[in-house]
Amino acid sequence: MVTQNGEKDHVFHRDFSREYPLIEHGEGVYLVDASGKRYLDASSGAIAANIGHGVAEIGDAMAAQAKKAGFVHTLRFETEVQHDLAKEISDLAPSTLNYVYFTSTGSEANESAIKFAIQYHRDRGNPSKHVTIGRWQSYHGNTMGSLSAGGDLLRRMPYMENLMRTEHVYSPYCHRCPYQQSLDHCLAHKQLYCIDELERLILEIGPEVVSSFICEPIIGSQQGAVVPPATYLSQVRALCDKYDIVLIVDEVMTGFGRTGSHFAVEGFQVEPDILTFGKGVSGGYAPLAGMIVSDRLVESLKEHGKGKFIHGSTFSGHPVTLAAGKAAIGYYKKHHLLDNSKKQGAYLLHKLYELQAKHRTIGNIRGRGLLIGFEVMKDRHTDSFYQSTVRASERLNQMAMKIGVIFYPGSGTLDGVNGDHLLIGPPLTISETEVDELVHRLDLALILFEKEMST
Ligand SMILES: Cc1ncc(COP(=O)(O)O)c(C=O)c1O
Repeated sequence: MVTQNGEKDHVFHRDFSREYPLIEHGEGVYLVDASGKRYLDASSGAIAANIGHGVAEIGDAMAAQAKKAGFVHTLRFETEVQHDLAKEISDLAPSTLNYVYFTSTGSEANESAIKFAIQYHRDRGNPSKHVTIGRWQSYHGNTMGSLSAGGDLLRRMPYMENLMRTEHVYSPYCHRCPYQQSLDHCLAHKQLYCIDELERLILEIGPEVVSSFICEPIIGSQQGAVVPPATYLSQVRALCDKYDIVLIVDEVMTGFGRTGSHFAVEGFQVEPDILTFGKGVSGGYAPLAGMIVSDRLVESLKEHGKGKFIHGSTFSGHPVTLAAGKAAIGYYKKHHLLDNSKKQGAYLLHKLYELQAKHRTIGNIRGRGLLIGFEVMKDRHTDSFYQSTVRASERLNQMAMKIGVIFYPGSGTLDGVNGDHLLIGPPLTISETEVDELVHRLDLALILFEKEMST
């Protein structure tokens, strides 16, 4: 393989069967490649570039910190930026979450949370509580622990023999309930059926072995912005309290205004024991993520665990990434991006419903704020999906890229293998005119896609 300059290519690419446009720069919601082609970034990269591309003040803040102190080992020292950002993040989080532990990626944030939950129980004399319960069609990262807790079948399959012991229940995809229940029937009962199933699982394996339950508040990459019933998370919270299980809510994708609030849990009035974050915290400008831990768990660590979490890595709390986070949070506030996420999210939803009337391939539309998804269907009138081998969502996104717009395609929506969806999550800075352009380009991509699929 050769690079675009004709030299030997030394990059270990994400997928060697593909060609990747070379991005030269970005500005606002656009990325511009070396040939000058402009892509409207309707996926904020991987739902990370929340404040748009090319914001010079973030780079300036990082450069200023690098000039002051580029690396400080958090096992030996602390920095001012570490205190500043930890305070800012805990101020945005639910009231009982007040301690911020920094990592570089969302996977590591979840890995840390899963391990901390295990240590919490061990410190308190309950070493048998070591099993994490996760959900099918949820994604928590690619490290062995986070992959084990997640429910992405295709990513898990090659490593099945290596994964650690975890258990799973189905997610609350009420539009197509995996337990074949109707939402009305469910809501008429004290507990949702999927919560009954969670309780059944806890009792079956024994509460004495369950350490934590992990979930995304709104399911992102695996199902395309599925919002649970309003009572789902509070019912999960009640079960966790009943059986002494640490509740980890993964807000790596949903945090920092993506769904119109600082964190999506606000909308469900639930306080987890650990909330993990990543992606948007730095607006995608630096590899920064972490977990916010409750007062209760940190008090326990001090009292029963000699104050030391047995974990950590070199770049945890890296000052240059923290400077990016601090500057990005300042940018969110200065430009009222939470309000814009709500406003443009509502407008985008409205435009998608209009577009749906024109396209049989647009199935159920859902989401909150600027995290919106829809099912990519063969024909919504006959309730049929494309075969998984067609890779419909990926193909639709490839058409879209030709037209100059990028989405976040996903498959396995129904059962981990079948079904497709498209996730839309542009930078929270997007304007109404840019939403119109996004929808226009999606319309063109769907026309091309439907034509190709019918031949
Ligand atoms: C909900 C969620 N959790 C965790 C992760 C993993 O984050 P990272 O890719 O930064 O490791 C992702 C990434 O897409 C995610 O969407």
